[in-house]
Amino acid sequence: PHTIRLAVIPGDGIGKEVVPEGLKVLDAALAGTGASIERTDFDLGAERWHATGDTLTDEDLAAIKEHDAILLGAVGDPSVPSGVLERGLLLRLRFELDHYVNLRPAKHYPGVPTPLTEPGDIDFVVVREGTEGLYCGNGGAVRVGTPHEIATEVSVNTAYGVERVVRYAFEQANARRQRLTLVHKHNVLVHAGHLWRRTVEAVGAEYPGVSVDYCHVDAATIYMVTDPARFDVIVTDNLFGDILTDEAGAITGGIGLAASGNINPDRAFPSMFEPVHGSAPDIAGQGIADPTATILAVALLLEHIGEPDAAARVSAAVDADMATRARANQEGGPLTRSTSEIGDAIAQALRA
Ligand code: NAD
Ligand code: IPM
Ligand code: MN
Repeated sequence: PHTIRLAVIPGDGIGKEVVPEGLKVLDAALAGTGASIERTDFDLGAERWHATGDTLTDEDLAAIKEHDAILLGAVGDPSVPSGVLERGLLLRLRFELDHYVNLRPAKHYPGVPTPLTEPGDIDFVVVREGTEGLYCGNGGAVRVGTPHEIATEVSVNTAYGVERVVRYAFEQANARRQRLTLVHKHNVLVHAGHLWRRTVEAVGAEYPGVSVDYCHVDAATIYMVTDPARFDVIVTDNLFGDILTDEAGAITGGIGLAASGNINPDRAFPSMFEPVHGSAPDIAGQGIADPTATILAVALLLEHIGEPDAAARVSAAVDADMATRARANQEGGPLTRSTSEIGDAIAQALRA
């Protein structure tokens, strides 16, 4: 029997609605296993910023580091200038905790409504770099607000940073269907693009069993809707990975199903699990957000902290719920359930 120290950051908007469902399922998954959760809630997000001006203090960060893992809902609110919470809270956590792998699985469950008429067998993971690229905040603006304004955002790609995430992606491919696709745009971004291309070539030499493919990112957005079954593991930079994983969410049945892990594979710092989606101000407060992405993030969390059985049971409970959705869809239309009804159904399946 052991204790899992969990830091919980519900955040803003629907983050506050989906996190309780994730926790409900986490409790159900661990019931009777001997493992227990020691939870610390962090009130980070828009309210805290309005009250104190803080996004993430050094004290918050130090306290968060004392945990085995982090569950996050979403951050960002229309009442806060865009970028303040996204950069000051979410990206600061990813950078400070060296979450260089942003792992985003995409799987279509048979029969679940998707915008694709012939989805095929969609089951891939995006290994998105999490600490570099255009997200570094390396840029600036001069003559702001004048007709002569110049704004720059410089993408930072280091040999060290690219190699470690590419290596992780090869390991994933090796354990899956042995197929790796690098997505970049080296026909235009000749500096960063060729660093990524050469790195994949070099690391790939150590994985002769993995077949390597390449797509420019613009073409990748086509294949993702015309032939997504071609993908097994996609490795890409921070911004391309951000964009492609919203698209991956959409084709697999909705962004409300897409989970992610911000992982430090070296285990120097706690990893952080969250849905791919944001705070969805357009539906916040209505109790209609799909909590499944957060529940699947809980499965990734359990896997990461060494509870693979509990993780598998959460996945199986989600599979069962997806089958229910597929049936409902066949029998006349999608189910309409509230956030907590979905959480209850999945938690209930775990206890059965
Ligand atoms: P979003 O992901 O919040 O919403 C995009 C669309 O998807 C909206 O129509 C929304 O209603 C829908 N949606 C999202 N999650 C859903 C769910 N669980 N169930 C059903 N529908 C869902 O993206 P956005 O509107 O571009 O951003 C809103 C805010 O969230 C912004 O402040 C943004 O910066 C922030 N954001 C945060 C994160 C994060 O915390 N990781 C991720 C993305 C966006
Ligand atoms: C995501 C979000 C974040 C990102 C934002 C809110 C910083 O879109 O987690 O996908 O761009 O990584
Ligand atoms: Mn995103």
